[in-house]
Amino acid sequence: MIHNEREEINSLEIASIKGFRDILPEETRVWQWIEAEARRVFEDFGFQEIKTPILEKTELFSRSIGQETDIVSKEMYTFDDIKGRSLTLRPEATASVVRAYIQNRPYQTYPVQKLYSIGPMFRRERPQKGRFRQFHQINAELFGDPGPRSDADMISMAVLLFRSIGLDDVTLNLNSLGCFDCRPRFREELRNYLADKKTRLCEDCQRRADANPLRVFDCKVDACKEVVSEAPSIDAFLCEACREHFRSLEECLSDLEIPFVLNPLLVRGLDYYNRTTFEIQTEHLGAQNAVAGGGRYDGLVRLLGGPDHPAIGFALGMERVAALIGNDHPLQDKRPDLFIAALGETAARAAFKWAVGLRRNGLWAELDYGSAGLKSQMKKADRLGARHVLIVGDDELKTGRGALRNMLTKEQADVELKDAVNVLKEILKNERERDGRD
Ligand code: HAM
Repeated sequence: MIHNEREEINSLEIASIKGFRDILPEETRVWQWIEAEARRVFEDFGFQEIKTPILEKTELFSRSIGQETDIVSKEMYTFDDIKGRSLTLRPEATASVVRAYIQNRPYQTYPVQKLYSIGPMFRRERPQKGRFRQFHQINAELFGDPGPRSDADMISMAVLLFRSIGLDDVTLNLNSLGCFDCRPRFREELRNYLADKKTRLCEDCQRRADANPLRVFDCKVDACKEVVSEAPSIDAFLCEACREHFRSLEECLSDLEIPFVLNPLLVRGLDYYNRTTFEIQTEHLGAQNAVAGGGRYDGLVRLLGGPDHPAIGFALGMERVAALIGNDHPLQDKRPDLFIAALGETAARAAFKWAVGLRRNGLWAELDYGSAGLKSQMKKADRLGARHVLIVGDDELKTGRGALRNMLTKEQADVELKDAVNVLKEILKNERERDGRD
């Protein structure tokens, strides 16, 4: 072993920070599968991937998400860089995708833009089950269409993704938040309703009740929830155009046989929404019941200095979805096609060459780097769950024939070692095909 000359430190001192965690291989397998399904489903709906920076100017988020939201008022990781500019680790993807849309003007080539992105987000929330400070979203945004059919398209895409990863036991919640014409009336009514109940509200909500009364709906404090439960309902205030939009959306969803529940309390925790909001919820994750959420945000592109283009989007929380799936997914059974157990230096050299040769042919081959005994190598093959083991020692090399053991059926086949890579490739590939693993 080579030791470092510098002073060693206690590993606890550099342990990961609260709310930030490692996603280990058992979990990344399910993540890979969810991501692959998302790419497949989204691309069938005409979505293309966009990658935006993790760090943006603070103003982008404070302007779009809203000053009175929990996210902006207390959860952002914000710091000044060396030049004194305020920067923020993105708490969500929508604002960044909108910024990229405005900056790169993809709409000049094609007016309806459908963009998805996958990556980490940062919010300084109180960590608990299903809630982290670094978490990951799969995010989709559609720009350039104002009609209810694009709402239905987005919702059906989200629902299809949940179906394709085997999560049928979720509920689609739906609401309309009205538009820039009808929402001010609702906001005023809500402000009046809250005015004489301020003493029952938490400190934050007392401020919000005047500044941005809709945000009182997001509050997790029981007393505030109680006040809100008797508040006027937004659906009574929708203008005819918003009502018609919502009616058409319900019709589209019925045509697509997508069940939903109407939830007038679903205001979502971000200021940019108008008209349709939706959330996919589960009963299996305790308090953190939202596995995906989104809505229409027709005014945001313009608010951030772009053209007056409508948009709608949603994001799915990876940690929560992965927790729901657990170990029950197709990549769970991924295991090496072959383990080569070699005995002696000459055999080890040959085995190493064969293993690399098989990998060059798209097969998963494993072997021991050292010179462990047969028993220890067999144990490793077993622990890895290898489908086959080929045992080669000097005798096998001399005779040019080796034994290939199928670890699942325990059958043994005699194989030619002279052209080992091609012979093994043939056998292992055929088996993959037969099992439908390719
Ligand atoms: P959001 O509801 O804030 O919406 O987040 C979307 C999803 O991200 C949630 O439903 C949840 O599954 C997950 N999530 C949020 N916070 C955490 C956390 N602290 N830990 C773990 N998972 C979390 C948005 O972010 C909007 N940008 C969605 C959108 C896209 N609207 C339009 N386009």
